Amino acid sequence: MSDDVRDLALELRRHLAWQESDGTRVLLKEPAALRTVSVPPERSRGSTATAPAPKVEAPSVIVPGETLDEVRRELGECTRCKLCNGRTQIVFGSGNPRAELVFVGEGPGEEEDKQGIPFVGAAGQLLTKMIEAMKFSRDTVYICNVVKCRPPGNRNPEPEEIQSCEPFLRAQLRVIKPRVIVALGKFASQTLLREDTAITRLRGQWRKYEGIDLMPTFHPAYLLRSPDEKKKAWMDLQEVMKRLGTK
Ligand code: URA
Repeated sequence: MSDDVRDLALELRRHLAWQESDGTRVLLKEPAALRTVSVPPERSRGSTATAPAPKVEAPSVIVPGETLDEVRRELGECTRCKLCNGRTQIVFGSGNPRAELVFVGEGPGEEEDKQGIPFVGAAGQLLTKMIEAMKFSRDTVYICNVVKCRPPGNRNPEPEEIQSCEPFLRAQLRVIKPRVIVALGKFASQTLLREDTAITRLRGQWRKYEGIDLMPTFHPAYLLRSPDEKKKAWMDLQEVMKRLGTK
């Protein structure tokens, strides 16, 4: 596709997105990779698994893109939320754009913010070991986060920050179309499943995300603090291997 045609296509998609966000029905047929992402009006993203659901506006957001590069281009030098103020760089994601297996974490930490690559700090080293124990490598899977910019001091991402960034995560998953998603911890699980059930209850149970098998499990940072829970996480990952036929 020439640059002019691509620009035109992007412009048209933005226009359709705008129309839809206004509630106008779009009569043109949508390409497969251009779907509306509706965020439900009530979201739960409290600092504990049982915290009440904070109320957040519910816009419809479409992130256009047939490839990860296009999604990344659409994200641009993002200033959609205040996390842009403290970041060194955006941490979009890394790995195989055609991965069968995608890991979704919470948000970049200090080291990820420095390097621009997800999961390269202490929790990342554990995640790398987990991936290798599953007989995959970081190059064969895809790794990304709910929010693409580091929350200051590694605090939890806030509901508005998640809401701004979530359409890009959804676009990444729509483009990659993995067979299995592993949601690492509460934020990834609750964001993708759009529910506020505690991670201790969600983990280990197969769920569906847009028709894709999703396994919630503990976040590696939690496993570093609670090594006794590694057994449960390993059980979850073995279920994933079975589902992918690699066990
Ligand atoms: N924790 C996350 O959730 N993501 C990272 O990229 C690093 C640590």
